[in-house]
Amino acid sequence: MRVHVVFIGLGLIFLVIGMAFGMWMGINQDFQYAAAHAHWNLVGFVTSAIYGLTHRAYPKLAESRLTWIQCILHVIGVLIFAPGIVIAVVMDSRVAAIVGGNVLILAALMFMFIYFTHDHRTSPD
Ligand code: HEM
Repeated sequence: MRVHVVFIGLGLIFLVIGMAFGMWMGINQDFQYAAAHAHWNLVGFVTSAIYGLTHRAYPKLAESRLTWIQCILHVIGVLIFAPGIVIAVVMDSRVAAIVGGNVLILAALMFMFIYFTHDHRTSPD
């Protein structure tokens, strides 16, 4: 399985869940979770899809030993961060949001490192 397929596929799954969450908020007129919904969509769909499309545009990046670690960290970050915002709203505890946010930043730093340390030829060889 290639990493861009995983990023884009997971991003689309996150998108559908995020849209359903948005519909639920609208139907129930319960907007206290708007920030969780927004960040679920933005880091879950938009950021994942951009990581995936960047890998698709620059296939050399996937040769990095950090590629899959970065992908897994990003997904873990999404799964902790957005629910962490819900927990912050419901239970007044910010721990999960802080942990998830830091994991997402680490994944972004790793992607930046991969991007700047690999060449940007647009074909794999
Ligand atoms: C079926 C699709 C979607 C539905 C039904 C939906 C629904 C909603 C609702 C009800 C709100 C709260 C509005 C309010 O507070 O007055 C909201 C806010 C928001 N949504 Fe969505 N949404 C959808 C898709 C998306 C997507 C795909 C993104 C981003 C890629 C997104 C980003 C945001 C943002 C940034 C906010 C503002 C959050 C805030 O004010 O804190 N939404 N959405």
